[in-house]
Amino acid sequence: MVDLITKITKSVDFIGAFDPKIRTFDIIMKTANGSSYNSYVVRGSEGVAIMDTVKKEFSEDFFKRLEFMCDYEEIKYIVLHHLEPDHSGALIELMQKAPKAKLIISGRAVMMLKGLIKSDIEFEVANTGRIISLGDKTIEFLSTPFLHWPDTMSSYLHEEKVLFSGDVFGSHYYDERLFDDEVGDFSYAFKYYYDHIMRPFKQYVLQALKLYDTFDIKVIAPLHGPILRTNPQFYIDKYAQWSSEAKFRKHEFGKKMLSVFYMSSYDNTHLMAKKIMDGADSVEGVVASMYDLASLDEQNMIDLLEESDAIIIGSPTINGDAVKPAWDLLSCMAFLESNGKIGASFGSYGWTGEAPEMLHDRMRWLKFRLPVRPLKIKLIPTEDEQQSCFEFGVEIAEITMGKMVEMEMEI
Ligand code: FEO
Repeated sequence: MVDLITKITKSVDFIGAFDPKIRTFDIIMKTANGSSYNSYVVRGSEGVAIMDTVKKEFSEDFFKRLEFMCDYEEIKYIVLHHLEPDHSGALIELMQKAPKAKLIISGRAVMMLKGLIKSDIEFEVANTGRIISLGDKTIEFLSTPFLHWPDTMSSYLHEEKVLFSGDVFGSHYYDERLFDDEVGDFSYAFKYYYDHIMRPFKQYVLQALKLYDTFDIKVIAPLHGPILRTNPQFYIDKYAQWSSEAKFRKHEFGKKMLSVFYMSSYDNTHLMAKKIMDGADSVEGVVASMYDLASLDEQNMIDLLEESDAIIIGSPTINGDAVKPAWDLLSCMAFLESNGKIGASFGSYGWTGEAPEMLHDRMRWLKFRLPVRPLKIKLIPTEDEQQSCFEFGVEIAEITMGKMVEMEMEI
C-alpha cells in the first residue's frame, strides 16, 4: 500500500513513484540507492495542474496517488517538463482519463513528442515567460534546454515559491522520507547525478541558473530524488561551482593544455608519444603532458579530457583495431562537450596499422576539430621519424595556440 499523503507545500503534493530496486539508469549510471520518478499536483482555486508523470511500469502507484489528491475532471493542465520516458510513461493513460486537460510542453519537445507517442495528440507550447493560471495559483515557465535533453524546461509556482526544475538538481536516491532534511545523506548521489547528466551541458546549466536567479526560490522540486527545501541556494551554488571550476591549474596561468594519451606494446608508440609531447611542449603557451592509458581510471580520463584543449591519442594496431583503453577513453566523451577541442591520432604498427585512422574517424564523429592526418610509423621509429613526431606535436600545439589551418570537415 502506498503512502498517499505527501504534502510538499500548502498547494503542492507529491504523486510520483518510488523505484528502490533500480541499479542502472539510462545504461550509464549506477543507482546503488534506487531512484524515484517525481510528479506533483498543484491545486488552485480553478483546477489543478499535474507536473510530469512517471515511468510506465510505475503508473499504478502514480494513479493511486493522483486519484487520492484530485478528480480527473479537475485537471486543467498536464505539464511535461521533459519527455524522457521516465517522466512521460503514464502520459497517454493520463490524457485518456483527463480528456479536458491541456498538455503543456516546451517548443523543443514538439518533434520529440511525435517520436515518442507515435500518434497525434493536442498540446500547447510554453517558452520562457509563458504563464498559466489555476485561479489563485500562477505557474511561469522557463526554458532550460539540454538539462538533460534539448526539450527540458522548468517552471515556478509564484504564490508558494516552488521551482519545478525538471532533471536539474535531481538525484538517483530512493528515500520515502522525501525531503532533503529527512532523507539519508544523498550528497554522493547529487554530485554523481550532476557529473553524469549535467556536466556535458555546463554552459546550459549556467544559463539556467541565471534564469533561476530572477526568482525567490523556497523549494526545489526536481524529477528525481529528494525535494530540496532547507536551503535551496546551497544546491544552486553547488551547480554554479561545478559548472565553472577548472580542475587543473594550468589554465590559471593562461596556458593551453595539450594531452597525449597512449598505449604501447613494445615501447614504439610510447616513444612516438614522448616525441610528440616534446614537440608540443616546445611551443610557447602550451603545457603538454602524456598519460599511459594502461593505468588511467575513468574519472581521471574524464577530468583530463574535459580540461584539455587538444587531445592526441596513440594506439598500436592489434588484430586490425585500436586497443580497448583507447576506445574507452573516447567513450568518456559521452560525459563531456567535445565541440571545439582539437584532436589527432598516431601509432606504431607491425602489419596493417589501421588504429590511428580508426581513432581519427571516431574523433570526427565526436565533432573534434582535426587539423592533421593520423601519424603512422612501422615498428621502431627511426631518428627521422622521431623528428616527424616532434614536428607533429609542434604543428598541433601551434594550431591549439591559434595558427590558422584548414580543419577536416565535421560530419
Ligand atoms: Fe529523468 Fe532525463 O529523465
